Amino acid sequence: MISEVLYESPNHKFVYIGKDPERPDYIIDTNQYLLIHDKIATIMDPGGIEMFSSVSSAFAGEVRMSDVKFIFSSHQDPDVISSLALWLSITDSKIIIDRIWSTFISHYGARPDNMIMVEDAGMKLNMTKDYAFDIIPAHYLHSPGHLNLYDPISKILFTGDIGAALVPREEFKGKRKPNVFVQDFDSHIKYMEYFHKRWMPSNEPKKIWIDRVSKLDIEILAPQHGLIFKGKEMVDKFLNWFDGLNVGLYSK
Ligand SMILES: [Fe+2]
Ligand SMILES: [Fe+2]
Repeated sequence: MISEVLYESPNHKFVYIGKDPERPDYIIDTNQYLLIHDKIATIMDPGGIEMFSSVSSAFAGEVRMSDVKFIFSSHQDPDVISSLALWLSITDSKIIIDRIWSTFISHYGARPDNMIMVEDAGMKLNMTKDYAFDIIPAHYLHSPGHLNLYDPISKILFTGDIGAALVPREEFKGKRKPNVFVQDFDSHIKYMEYFHKRWMPSNEPKKIWIDRVSKLDIEILAPQHGLIFKGKEMVDKFLNWFDGLNVGLYSK
């Protein structure tokens, strides 16, 4: 697994792991993230059941599993959260998910007593007594109950499937440490376009989301697949491109 520290201060850390070289070609590549504040940790979109051993051993190098208190699930898809039952077996975590998926996620081992069900408007969640992150609604992009997580310290917005790209494995082959950031936005578009057009149902929720996140101070936009958008200029390039893209009903 490749890991990259996206932000670090004495009591706050945001870490990426992904690009598993052992991953078979028939399984979609996913990005996993870990947020630590004063030793308490939240895992974001821990991934599929097949990824559990490699993701958990990579995160074990960063944090004690007994300190993982929250698992944030951007939505209900199996590539996001089918590993949940295994994570619940090694941590004492609450699973954060949109309320509409609460009865579905129960098939992965969640129960009413270990779930935090997020209402349509999103919420602030206190991870420790002096630190909270924001849960931002991103509904219908693509899931009808889709959530983002914004960390106001690192200014990282974790966007789930928004900004997702399917980057061919050849791009990483032979590199000891593949790059995890978008370098050239224009040449990255071809890896994002089909997914956004085909999986996102319509332009209206996209406009609402762009309006909402444009008010945030974002240094890094971190999706669940593909490369990370680092720096305000790259984040703006993504938001402008997405704004102009016709998706779902409107795409040809
Ligand atoms: Fe998805
Ligand atoms: Fe996904």
